[in-house]
Amino acid sequence: MFQVVAAPSNLSGSAKREHYAELVEQARSLLADEPDRIANAANFSALVFHSLNDLNWSGFYLFDGSELVVGPFQGKPACVRIALGKGVCGTAAQTRETQVVRDVHAFPGHIACDAASQSEIVVPLIADDGSLIGVWDVDSPLVARFDDDDAKGMEALCSVFVAAWSRGADAGAA
Ligand code: SME
Repeated sequence: MFQVVAAPSNLSGSAKREHYAELVEQARSLLADEPDRIANAANFSALVFHSLNDLNWSGFYLFDGSELVVGPFQGKPACVRIALGKGVCGTAAQTRETQVVRDVHAFPGHIACDAASQSEIVVPLIADDGSLIGVWDVDSPLVARFDDDDAKGMEALCSVFVAAWSRGADAGAA
């Protein structure tokens, strides 16, 4: 079975960067042999959720061609559809820039899916051809849970996911 190593709760600086580097390797091996995109998205969200401290939600919003639709995730049931430009997820999708939100209550238009969420990080997922796959969203019950090292670490993790997505297929696809 795949071993998930949880980080101690007070990681910072180089220890945090090292933990993300290990997590990137774990994600790479977890997704390496599987073409199914939803299976990979589900396992990816579980890996991250159980490998980082102080999270209450981690998962995907996938672009269906017109808006974001919730995909595989860990945490409480969430809002299903988010328009581009709305909330933190829609902003990341529209600007194609990672959003690190220190205090969700101070973010104009934040969409509160889980009242426990206090801070959030959202990474846009862009395929090699420039098309929008969706966003990767992680929430924390702590204010200011995420810093620049988390942003870089999450972006590195998302590169692994996007690479797997690009060589993958949807279940049932010919
Ligand atoms: N808070 C997000 C919505 C998704 S939930 O956090 C899972 C937003 O403002 O886009």
